[in-house]
This record gives sequence, C-alpha cells and structure tokens, in this order.
Amino acid sequence: AESMQYEHILVSTPKPGVGFIQLNRPKALNALCTPLILELNAALRTYQADTSISAVVLTGSERAFAAGADIKEMKDLTFSTAYGADFIESWSDLVTFLKKPLITAINGYALGGGCELAMMGDILYCSTSAVFGQPEIKLGVIPGAGGSQRLTKAIGKSRAMEAILTGNNISSKQAGDWGLVAKVFDTPQECVDGALATAEKIAGYSQIAVKAAKEVVNKSQDLGIREGVEFERRLFHGMFGSKDQKIGMTAFAEKKKAEWTNE
Ligand code: CAA
Repeated sequence: AESMQYEHILVSTPKPGVGFIQLNRPKALNALCTPLILELNAALRTYQADTSISAVVLTGSERAFAAGADIKEMKDLTFSTAYGADFIESWSDLVTFLKKPLITAINGYALGGGCELAMMGDILYCSTSAVFGQPEIKLGVIPGAGGSQRLTKAIGKSRAMEAILTGNNISSKQAGDWGLVAKVFDTPQECVDGALATAEKIAGYSQIAVKAAKEVVNKSQDLGIREGVEFERRLFHGMFGSKDQKIGMTAFAEKKKAEWTNE
C-alpha cells in the first residue's frame, strides 16, 4: 500500500503484519468526501489482498477522527441524484470485503459519518478526547451510513434514540461505560499505540483462526442465537482441517511456542 499515492489518507506499516491508515484532511476535520472514501476503499482492498498484512488500524488526527460526511458536498444533492447514484453505498463496502480485523482508534470528533465509520471497526479504542455523536438531526436529515443500526446494537435502543433524536454528543466516558468502545485511553498517542499493539498481537496468531474468529463474531450480528451457535460450531469443526490447529495444540501439549503456518 505504501507505493500508492493518496491525497486524503496516509498509509504505512509501523509494525510487522499491521497496516496503518490515517485520515488526512486536516482543514476539513477529516470530513469524509467521496474521494476520501474511495481512497480508503482502495487502501483497505490493498491490505485485504496483501498476505503480509494481518490486521489494520484506522485513525484520524488528534482533533478529529472525522467530523462526518462532507456537508458541503451533500448540500445540493436531490433525492434522485442521491438515490440514483446510491450515495453512501460505497461506504458499506468498506466493512463487507475486509476479512482482516480492523481496529479504529478514535480521538477528537467522531460525528455523523465519522461516528459511523468508527463503528465499522471490529474493535473500537478511543481516548478521553473523543466526542461521538450522530448530529444529522440538526441538519434536517438522519444518519445514512449505518449509525441508526450500529449505534443501537452497540449501546441499546433508549441511549441510541436519545443521541439520534437530540443530536447530543456522547462523551468518551459514556462510550466506555456503555461498551461502544473496548477501551478509553488517557491520551491520543496512547490510543493509537494501544491499537497498534493489539493489531500486532492479533497478527501474531494463526491467520486462519483470526479470520474465522472475526467471521463468527460478526455472524452474531445477523443470526439468532441458535443458528449463530450452530454456525460457530461448524466453523469450529472446520478448524480441525487446518495445519495450525495441529501446531497450536501440539505446541501446548509439548510446552513449546507455536510457529504458525497460516495453513
Ligand atoms: N463537512 C464539511 N466540512 C466540515 C465538516 C463536515 N462534516 N465538519 C467540519 N468541516 C469544516 C468546517 O466547515 C471548517 O471549514 P472552513 O475552515 O472552510 O470554514 C473546518 O472544517 C473546521 O471546522 P469548524 O470551524 O466548524 O471547527 P470547530 O472546532 O468550530 O467545530 C465541529 C468542530 C463541532 C466538529 C463542527 O465542525 C461541526 O459541527 N461539524 C459538522 C458535524 C456534523 O454535523 N457531522 C454530520 C455530517 S452529516 C453526515 O455525516 C451524514 C451521514 O450520516 C453519512
């Protein structure tokens, strides 16, 4: 991904196996204009295809993860242009094709589409500087990139209704207490470092198991408990067809460190 030239994002590989994407549109507080989303798509697709990358961290700046979809770009849309081009549809691609774990490290504003993008992470980390919210109601619209669905799943109906109907912000403390994020760090740097450390840890496991683990947890979002548990068990059975299952369990029995083959 490093060889690609992007205008609105920065990409690097700061740890072995870990892809790192920083939204980089500081003057607009990382407002998510279509060209930025297309670059993000391209970078994530490159990481998905790159077998040397096992996990991805996505962050913004200290001031803003992202202040939302680009309001200036949206303001003149009509129903037929939005519907005709399926505006925002390219956003939902982001999470459906990425089979590798995505950790979002959220500092500063994560509003509207910024909150929605943050919630597309498999694991969310934030710092005390983070401010979440779905302020679309103040613009005369509603969330359009999954906010009403993912926020409700994450924090429950009553809290999500309150946030979406009032446009009130959600503090980092609330985000932590309500389980919107997995961890709240004291500083933005600690948040990004923490995300990179977790990604590196994940990258150190069998990538077959990591992929299956993400797949089964995600299934819980779509399936009822009985079907979900059955799906998990089938995939669990499937793991016994991998080399890494033999390697992992043999290493345990012999008190040795497992050397994964990703096979
Ligand atoms: N779109 C376009 N430009 C944006 C933007 C956005 N979402 N958010 C901020 N900017 C721009 C501002 O227009 C400003 O640009 P100029 O310097 O050219 O005027 C620059 O970023 C800095 O912003 P502010 O001067 O407003 O900074 P602030 O510190 O005073 O306020 C803020 C920060 C509270 C985040 C404020 O910028 C704000 O309220 N932003 C909009 C938040 C919002 O409503 N997001 C939801 C968008 S709708 C959406 O996302 C739909 C969806 O569901 C997909």
